[in-house]
Amino acid sequence: MTTSNATTGPLDVMETDKGEMIWQRFSVPFEFPVAFSEGLFDPENSLLIETLALREVDKRHRCLVFIDEGVAKASPDLAASIEAYATAHAAHMSLATAPVIVAGGERIKTELTHLESLQDLIHETHIDRHSYVIAIGGGAVLDAVGLAAATAHRGVRLIRLPTTVLSQNDSGVGVKNAVNLKGVKNYTGTFAPPWAVLNDYDFITQLPARERIAGIAEAVKVALIRDGEFFKWLEANADNLATFEPAAEKHMIQHCARLHMRQIGTGGDPFEMGSARPLDYGHWSAHKLEAITRHHVNHGEAVAIGIALDARYSVLAGLLPEGEDDRVVSLLEHLGFKIFHSGLKRRDRSGQSEIMKGLADFREHLGGELTITLLSSLGVGVEVHEIDDAKMVGAIDWLEAREGR
Ligand SMILES: NC(=O)c1ccc[n+]([C@@H]2O[C@H](COP(=O)([O-])OP(=O)(O)OC[C@H]3O[C@@H](n4cnc5c(N)ncnc54)[C@H](O)[C@@H]3O)[C@@H](O)[C@H]2O)c1
Ligand SMILES: [Zn+2]
Repeated sequence: MTTSNATTGPLDVMETDKGEMIWQRFSVPFEFPVAFSEGLFDPENSLLIETLALREVDKRHRCLVFIDEGVAKASPDLAASIEAYATAHAAHMSLATAPVIVAGGERIKTELTHLESLQDLIHETHIDRHSYVIAIGGGAVLDAVGLAAATAHRGVRLIRLPTTVLSQNDSGVGVKNAVNLKGVKNYTGTFAPPWAVLNDYDFITQLPARERIAGIAEAVKVALIRDGEFFKWLEANADNLATFEPAAEKHMIQHCARLHMRQIGTGGDPFEMGSARPLDYGHWSAHKLEAITRHHVNHGEAVAIGIALDARYSVLAGLLPEGEDDRVVSLLEHLGFKIFHSGLKRRDRSGQSEIMKGLADFREHLGGELTITLLSSLGVGVEVHEIDDAKMVGAIDWLEAREGR
């Protein structure tokens, strides 16, 4: 039975033998722009001002800016440039306080005091649901500031300015945030689409080479599961990418960001209610390897190893033709990645493989049913619900032997 409710519109009301059941139903359309620009804080560049005014024009928008310490070190003039930009556009924006430098890298996600300080600052500067938090940094800073912003007043506006390859082509354009509590990576977090994402290529040119390479792993990942042509493009442009040729690097970042956005926007499960995690190809072991090595292997490096491992396993499982795993490994090596780490073979005191516990963690994170994305060809991901431990160990041995060649 459908009845009409004067304030909320139609409601489905069912009489059941246990009483009345009113079925609540609404949907909220989410949309946000992801821009690619350069010189964002050049006073002539009006992108930020236009972004602030997206839904409220003719207003002076209050902003609280957080800067990743790694970014602040690489561009010591950044805070002053932001202040000068705010002064130049004083009619449209004001800074709640001078830009705040925050811990960079995984540290900000792992020590609770950092999250508390972020929340304190959002509170003390009276950021409300119509002001903006602007996060400038790598994926870790975006994740931690994102969580603080998503929970203050149940969610204040967040503009992300990703500063690493990985955050511009993957994490920064997504809808999640998290910190690592209880010793578990990304344990505490929310799904919270940002107000906008503004990618500035200038930040990438300041990034240390190790981080700059690491982010390419996510491009290889998304190419492998979704876009065979992009995989071929990565193979053909591996030299240019490894030497940071700007046109190739920009294309890699933008195409990868687009594939991630398409998956989130049209894949049918943006908030990951189901068990499938196609974008987490290669990640079950990567997350575990990051933890085993206490983040000495960074996310992108761990993902490269996870990608190679699951490509070899796909062959051993009879899903992917023999030889295709070689192409994956060759590309990763060409880009500068290592495809094996001794952490893959570490055992705990009872002799159990540490890395294989990553499968159990993944299963628990998904809610009981294991769903792992493997490959049926280079460009097509397939889901499986069981992993053969002996074959996975064989895949690890193969990587070790190959690395030592
Ligand atoms: N929310 C998501 O959907 C999602 C997706 C993928 C990854 N992540 C998370 O992202 C994190 C990894 O992010 P990342 O790879 O961007 O690395 P990162 O944030 O750990 O940064 C790496 C290092 O580079 C420094 N840095 C950042 N930008 C710089 C710049 N322009 N110049 C100089 N130094 C700079 C940082 O201070 C840090 O020391 C992980 O915590 C991972 O879990 C989140
Ligand atoms: Zn990742």
